[in-house]
Amino acid sequence: MKIYQRANYTDMSHQVANIIAAQVILKPNCVLGLATGSTPIGAYKELIHSAQIGDISFAQVSSINLDEYVGLSPAHNQSYRYFMESNLFDHINIRREFTNVPNGLADDLDTECKRYNQLIEDIGGIDLQLLGMGHNGHVGFNEPNSHFTLGTNHVTLAKSTIEANARFFDDDLSKVPTAAITMGIKNIMQSKTILVAVSGEDKADIVYKAFCGPVTPQVPSSILPMHPNVILVGDNSALHKLIQAGELVCD
Ligand code: F6R
Repeated sequence: MKIYQRANYTDMSHQVANIIAAQVILKPNCVLGLATGSTPIGAYKELIHSAQIGDISFAQVSSINLDEYVGLSPAHNQSYRYFMESNLFDHINIRREFTNVPNGLADDLDTECKRYNQLIEDIGGIDLQLLGMGHNGHVGFNEPNSHFTLGTNHVTLAKSTIEANARFFDDDLSKVPTAAITMGIKNIMQSKTILVAVSGEDKADIVYKAFCGPVTPQVPSSILPMHPNVILVGDNSALHKLIQAGELVCD
């Protein structure tokens, strides 16, 4: 495992963007697994800048997103497809037909999950999977007690996740979708490289549990250190409890 400790959100974002850019430069037709949420926004801004000044090109890149709310159309301003368009895809030269987000409006969610698993396989697997982490240790929408062996699946969201996401829905809990489609832990662990981005004091406890605690489905992210090629990038606030544990070397 490689850990990068950075001073603040800006520096953390810069490092995350550099790692993604390196992947794109080394393999121009790579498959990027992408995440939404507040954490990656700074890195996406940096990637947009790098693409606009011609340092990197997304012309041959494919992307596959972790998750999508059930019941939100791509045009809904809180859907994850909309998030990806407005925070990244609209501003870079990625081909839309090479971008993938689960279809939250699918009539049959089981069929959609199977399609998504097949898509990941057909595309040749994920080269670099970017992840944020929820306060309860969720990755994607794999909530506590999800099975590590699951591929793409549809889930009921934990109360804490619904509450955390209410900020995007006018702080109105009744507007927050209660279900989602998510890549499973199995899909994530099959990625060639996993890049975990964390920021803020509110993540310090869960980062410690995930990377220093026992591997348990109660903390879905606790499986990540078992991956042979995982990179953790965090700011001081998110990493300080992990670092105080003293067993980990940071760059
Ligand atoms: C987003 C996702 C979620 C978030 C997590 C952290 O696609 O899958 O697991 O990464 O909820 O969200 P933020 O970054 O908003 O703290």
